[in-house]
Amino acid sequence: MMTDKKNRPVFLDLRRIRLPVVAVLSIAHRITGVAMCLAIPFIIYLLGLSLRDAQGYAQALAILDNPIIRVLAVFLSWALSHHFLAGIRFLLIDMEIGVEPDAARRSARLVNAAGLIVPVLLAVVWL
Ligand code: HEM
Repeated sequence: MMTDKKNRPVFLDLRRIRLPVVAVLSIAHRITGVAMCLAIPFIIYLLGLSLRDAQGYAQALAILDNPIIRVLAVFLSWALSHHFLAGIRFLLIDMEIGVEPDAARRSARLVNAAGLIVPVLLAVVWL
């Protein structure tokens, strides 16, 4: 039995493995959830700084002027919009709405694409 398992063919050509669209959505949902959690301390710091006084507000604006911070903010806008839409989709599926494989694939494609609208617009006007 063990030998059979050992002798099974292994296909690990990462350039040719295509993840199903629902897997892409699910992995992105986890990554975006974790990314938003990690961003919370920084966002609270920035909010506190901006509310402290006029000088703090100017400092917060200066931080947001940094190109790296802007790219991170655009990434976070994607994280929130993807996570929000994918979360709603998961909740609908939990209620047995759109569970059929075809419908699930269609909604996954829709969410993956719609989640890009806000960050792309933000990148266009802000980067
Ligand atoms: C904006 C509205 C949001 C909705 C509708 C939503 C929805 C969901 C749902 C349904 C799940 C469970 C997914 C599953 O069944 O595997 C989930 C997981 C999670 N959410 Fe949210 N969420 C939202 C906002 C947030 C925010 C703001 C954060 C972080 C600051 C966050 C962090 C997480 C994390 C870390 C997980 C666990 C991910 C995993 O282990 O796969 N969520 N969310």
